[in-house]
Amino acid sequence: MPHKVILDVDTGTDDAIALMCAVLHPDLELIAATTVNGNVPVVNCTENTLRVFDLLGVKVPVYEGLPKPFVRPNFPVPRDKPNPAHGEYLDLPPATSKKQGQNAVDFLIEYYMGPDGPSTTLVPVGPLSNVAMAIRMEPRIVERIPEMVIMGGGHEHGNVTPSAEFNIWADPEGARVAFLSGIPMRVVPLDATWAARTDTAQVEQLRALGTPAAVAAAAFCDRRIQSWNVGATAIHDALALCAVADPSLLVTHHVYADVETFGELTVGRTVFDTHARTGKEPNCHVALDADREKFNALLRDLLGRTA
Ligand code: RIB
Ligand code: CA
Repeated sequence: MPHKVILDVDTGTDDAIALMCAVLHPDLELIAATTVNGNVPVVNCTENTLRVFDLLGVKVPVYEGLPKPFVRPNFPVPRDKPNPAHGEYLDLPPATSKKQGQNAVDFLIEYYMGPDGPSTTLVPVGPLSNVAMAIRMEPRIVERIPEMVIMGGGHEHGNVTPSAEFNIWADPEGARVAFLSGIPMRVVPLDATWAARTDTAQVEQLRALGTPAAVAAAAFCDRRIQSWNVGATAIHDALALCAVADPSLLVTHHVYADVETFGELTVGRTVFDTHARTGKEPNCHVALDADREKFNALLRDLLGRTA
């Protein structure tokens, strides 16, 4: 039986590869995608998500979520131009399929309070605004979500500030609600995603597969590599998604984790208590390393398929 997943995305080039992996993975069943403000405005995330599913020729329900963080009126720093790693829209034909009429938060509540909720892993790979709002609106949902596999945070370093990773920094209060909710969680921070990076030679191997998914993923990777100019890219969100089916991709530690929401220099920092200084019960399995070769081989296997 494939493992049911819902992806909460801010699509985005790496979200797009995660969506493709979710559709093409033989051991996963993608129930729906929910979108959230993040890499691009939420309406662009929704359009991008639909573009990815159209490219693969599949119909997966897409629910649009929050256009802003859980508490803050906007991002801590409003974005004046698109992030070059993602652009304004994915470089794919405009979507012909349509989003669902229901809001993502209402969908998440209805789905998880329903019969299939307890057997469906939630994979948030954008800011945690939808998740926090769903918890706030229906607190019983925390007993119904069997596990969240979250892409977010950084232990050794950040990527927006020295302290903070984008998904957590973009909605720190929302992230804190999710982290402290009691929902079982695995967290996949930058430490793991960069350990599992994909370099230019591996991108060429993907492109050579010639399938729509592999060719599109290679182009997205090109864009990401150009934007950082380090000869490789972390495909953050795809690693978190793939770990649902194969936990051995990650090297995890069972620790207490919290999110900084106040610090002048550290707002949005994930604080992983790796040396048990708080005395608090562990609430997450955090991945501080990952199997790079296994992940890249899996990407070739999945993206070389057609739906
Ligand atoms: O920091 C990396 C994360 O931020 C990824 O999920 C990327 O898509 C962006 O949302
Ligand atoms: Ca993302």
